[in-house]
Amino acid sequence: MKCLVTGGTGFIGSNLALELEKQGNEVTVVDNLLSGNKDNLIGFNGNFIEADVSGDNFKIDGAFDIIFHQAAITDPRYPNEEETYKKNVEGFKNIIDLAKKNNAKLIYASTAGLYGNGPTPMKEDQKKEIVSAYGKSKLEMDAMAEKLFDEMHIVGLRYFNVFGPKEMHKGRPASMIYHLGKQIKEGKKPRIFKFGEQKRDHIYVKDAVDATIKAIDAKSGIYNVGTGIATDFNDLIKILNEVFGTNLNPEYFDMTYDPKTYQNNTQADTTKAEQFLNFEAKWSLKEGIKDYMGELKWIQN
Ligand SMILES: NC(=O)c1ccc[n+]([C@@H]2O[C@H](COP(=O)([O-])OP(=O)(O)OC[C@H]3O[C@@H](n4cnc5c(N)ncnc54)[C@H](O)[C@@H]3O)[C@@H](O)[C@H]2O)c1
Repeated sequence: MKCLVTGGTGFIGSNLALELEKQGNEVTVVDNLLSGNKDNLIGFNGNFIEADVSGDNFKIDGAFDIIFHQAAITDPRYPNEEETYKKNVEGFKNIIDLAKKNNAKLIYASTAGLYGNGPTPMKEDQKKEIVSAYGKSKLEMDAMAEKLFDEMHIVGLRYFNVFGPKEMHKGRPASMIYHLGKQIKEGKKPRIFKFGEQKRDHIYVKDAVDATIKAIDAKSGIYNVGTGIATDFNDLIKILNEVFGTNLNPEYFDMTYDPKTYQNNTQADTTKAEQFLNFEAKWSLKEGIKDYMGELKWIQN
């Protein structure tokens, strides 16, 4: 099949583009390199187009069967809120138009950030708590998609906390697993907010890619992409120490963010994804970390 991956030099997008190509698809990547890194596409044989999908004159030639829309300003603390909202929403509008023109299936990235500090496990239809312009943009994208469910194949994926190879370029917004793993590898005490009891539903990028590809055959809708398991940061550090054979205790420090903008706990309710996306995460946290951290390249840079 002919696939377009927007945001394909980014973390999830590059893993996805490479996997799609491995599965025999013809893949084109479009990215404006805002936060992505072309090195993530080493070994990729498809077409790369450098372009901003949110531009007024955005146009891309070629007939696509499936469009995977990963491109976005992904840092919830990106300093320009207006730009975050506008570019993410305008980009999605352009991609919807492109999908309609091509009669293509559209699979796009939403986020578990929309649940804010709402109750866990988080269900797709629960009340949303928007804590950033990033969240606001994704909520608007979901609202746009919902209006199109009867008209076209459109699937939104609310990824939880994704970790794995090719996330290093993200810097601060990279996963806590990346940051804590790096500190431990450097022999430093892993630093976490007091007192490490905040929880995350960490999902390995290979599972996130699997869910994204499964969306090709799902019915139009919006689905959580998580494991259903929440792990607190103290336990995460224990697992990292086990994987590295180290024994470094956490160093706690005061929360530096406005608590209103910080998600204390994330945990997916996976019922809907199991039923309609046919997706269940296969990688345990420990196995995912081993697979990831075994790939030593990530730490050398
Ligand atoms: N990583 C996670 O844990 C997570 C969680 C929830 C949702 N998401 C969503 O998944 C998608 C991928 O996230 P990621 O972690 O790979 O982030 P990323 O920052 O690594 O990737 C985003 C990519 O989009 C590109 N981009 C940004 N704006 C663009 C534009 N206007 N035109 C073209 N390209 C543009 C960037 O250069 C980058 O390569 C995003 O939509 C993000 O909101 C990710």
